[in-house]
Amino acid sequence: MTLTIEENELICRVGRGTPMGELMRRYWVPACLSEELLEPDCDPIRLRVLGENLIAFRDTEGRAGVMQERCPHRGASLFFGRNEEGGIRCLYHGWKVAVDGTVLDTPCEPVESMIKHHVRANAYPTYERGDVVWAYFGPADEQPPPPDYWWMSLDSNQLAVGKIDYACNYLQGVEGTTDSAHNNALHSGFEYMHWTEEQVQELLGRGYPLVHMRRDQKHEIVDTPYGFRYGVIRHDPSVPAGQHLVSMTPVILPWSVYLDYSPHMFVPADDEHTWLFDVRTRGGRPLDREKELAARGERVGIDLGPDHRKLRTLEMSYLQDRKVMRERQESWSYSGMPWGKPIQDMSVTESMGPVYDRLGEHLGVHDAMVVRMRECLLSAVRRFTETGETPATDSSIAWNQIRGGTAVVPVDTPWSAVEYPDTERAAVGVR
Ligand code: FES
Ligand SMILES: [Fe+2]
Repeated sequence: MTLTIEENELICRVGRGTPMGELMRRYWVPACLSEELLEPDCDPIRLRVLGENLIAFRDTEGRAGVMQERCPHRGASLFFGRNEEGGIRCLYHGWKVAVDGTVLDTPCEPVESMIKHHVRANAYPTYERGDVVWAYFGPADEQPPPPDYWWMSLDSNQLAVGKIDYACNYLQGVEGTTDSAHNNALHSGFEYMHWTEEQVQELLGRGYPLVHMRRDQKHEIVDTPYGFRYGVIRHDPSVPAGQHLVSMTPVILPWSVYLDYSPHMFVPADDEHTWLFDVRTRGGRPLDREKELAARGERVGIDLGPDHRKLRTLEMSYLQDRKVMRERQESWSYSGMPWGKPIQDMSVTESMGPVYDRLGEHLGVHDAMVVRMRECLLSAVRRFTETGETPATDSSIAWNQIRGGTAVVPVDTPWSAVEYPDTERAAVGVR
């Protein structure tokens, strides 16, 4: 499926007033990590989400607020304000605003002034769970119930949520994660470096996660009310005759791909920038948070700046190491980038340009999931434009049951009948 320029624009542009931008505003949006708002009355932070300039802060009672950066008085940035005593006070004339947008104080006005009762800051409803502060940017009467995904109920020692910026449109990130075929090349590439089986095994012994896509693997896609689900079907020596192994991945509109243990959410900062909210779990077992974030190149102060933007960028070619690529001795020799899979992913997705036009592509069989993603977004945005409906408020969807995983399935049973794949069998760190 080749997209026209108009179709590509339709699914890539996310600003307020655009069809896709409005569709996205019908969902709860990951706005920032809880840890970015460390404690009550913490320093406010600047955010850019869906093309809007915002601030987030936590008030004296610990409630998280997300609102337009501009002060409702005359537009100064509230980022510079004082956060104390139940709200944020603009430096310019001292107007004070609560997390819900109520104007609490207008000290430069006469005492009898009623202006604070007539003005509200553009604050958005928030909801905090799963180490994420979510915000809702859509019309009040369309607000869906708060998000409830399976990983959000994990204890904090079972969960590590990373956040890292992509300097490209969200769809390039989503397509890259939906496309499982690239694992053979980008994240491993052993075949292309002519590694022997012994070399690969040695690497496996060192704990390198390797799942090899074989050319005889099959993909199947089934539509679901929230998007679609795809299965990668393979025969495995460990599986009894008459059965096969199926890795199942739900793709949840508009930006989530639920790989095995690790949901990925590509939230647009604007058309040309994206935040990856990178959820790491071990399927409910405790994990080492620092180790998880290190493996993904998502440690603040080491891999990322304090604002979660990566330190190794496209402009510096991600510090790609050509010597290691030539010598072929390291697990990351294929790409020459040891900084975690997100950076390897970005080296390809960001290099396509800020908003890839998708002209002149030559799609192959393994691009089927990418094609389905585009079709799905197109039909969702067209349906939304015509009817105002989105899956966001579909009460038939059991959101907290949607999860990826791997299952052993009899060959004569449709894998899509398996609703809750066994995450214990999931191939860890595949993508
Ligand atoms: S601009 Fe904020 S108080 Fe005047
Ligand atoms: Fe990848």
